Amino acid sequence: MKLLVCGGAGFIGSNFVRVRMRSSDDAIVVLDKLTYAGRRENLRDLEDDPRFSFRHGAIEDAEAVAAALDGVEAIVNFAAETHVDRSIAEPDAFVRTHALGTFVLLEAARERGLRYLQVSTDEVYGSIAEGSFTESSPLRPSSPYSATKAGADLLVGGYHETFGLDAVICRGSNNYGPYQYPEKLIPLMVLNALAGDRLPVYGDGGNVRNWLFVEDFATAIARVLADGVAGEVYNVGGPDECANIDVVRRILALCDRDESLIDHVTDRPGHDRRYSLSSAKVSALGWSAAVRFDDGLERTVAWYRDNDWWWEPIRDGAYREYYLRQYGRALE
Ligand code: NAD
Ligand code: TYD
Repeated sequence: MKLLVCGGAGFIGSNFVRVRMRSSDDAIVVLDKLTYAGRRENLRDLEDDPRFSFRHGAIEDAEAVAAALDGVEAIVNFAAETHVDRSIAEPDAFVRTHALGTFVLLEAARERGLRYLQVSTDEVYGSIAEGSFTESSPLRPSSPYSATKAGADLLVGGYHETFGLDAVICRGSNNYGPYQYPEKLIPLMVLNALAGDRLPVYGDGGNVRNWLFVEDFATAIARVLADGVAGEVYNVGGPDECANIDVVRRILALCDRDESLIDHVTDRPGHDRRYSLSSAKVSALGWSAAVRFDDGLERTVAWYRDNDWWWEPIRDGAYREYYLRQYGRALE
């Protein structure tokens, strides 16, 4: 099978491509705009494989999409702006990529009769105090990021109902693992701990996330691509939940640092307290998570410790400026 993977140079997309190329004979074309979060380095070990090709372009550019689709049988769309804090500061690109970009991809899939998988997030449901969201829970997004992701999901559903598009949606909980850009909680805290920088915890640190190792999300997406029923949504939640402050404490312990590095900083506006997904529907397709949080976090810390070639260029330049703007403090 030949797949078009949009946003395949980002964190989850590149892990998906790696898992897929290891476990199947698929040919893969990656189409990626290479925003600050998209990097060819994320695919460095795959570039020489003759089954792999890369195209630099945006999903909202219909010509770039058409040129990437030669011989393709299915589209998997990871392409997105993904950081809630950036969506609060500058929402424009979120609207463009999630609304217009998804529309362009759906049109291209419809014209060619292709199968389409939209990668989405638990954040479209909003916060839940107890229990877990199912696929029929109402959408109550609370940030420009999650609101525009929810809009894209609704558009996918509309294309299935109206045009019979063979489309499925996969909503994942918080992912972590290698190649994640260090604006997100886990890689940011790991790199700060390794460097001896302070660790900025929003509010009281009691917000809870449902952690999913990135390779487990990749296998779930492959499962839904193969066996998911057109028009359906599949939630993919991680096996463990953990409050942010406990995540940070575990990272400090794994990096041999003490808790005096923790800084409680001003909370994020509209900060969702807890996310939790029920994975019963994707489990019925035969998927289960293979990696528990303790093990995955240890592997993740080890990967960042061993791969400074990957993060040293990021933790410079524009990232330092972003950090100063976001946290009001310079990195060491
Ligand atoms: P990421 O920010 O690491 O990567 C996003 C990728 O999309 C980058 O390579 C970027 O260059 C590319 N991109 C952005 N705009 C584009 C455009 N207009 N055209 C083409 N490419 C574009 O994000 P990620 O964490 O890998 O997330 C991937 C997908 O998974 C997103 O749709 C996100 O909403 C979803 N998701 C993420 C998580 C998580 O915890 N990170 C959890 C569930 C779902
Ligand atoms: P993040 O990785 O941005 O993912 P999301 O907002 O999509 O869940 O944040 C995860 C949690 O960590 C969230 O509750 C916000 C919190 N957080 C901090 O406390 N400090 C930080 O510097 C960051 C980036 C996040």
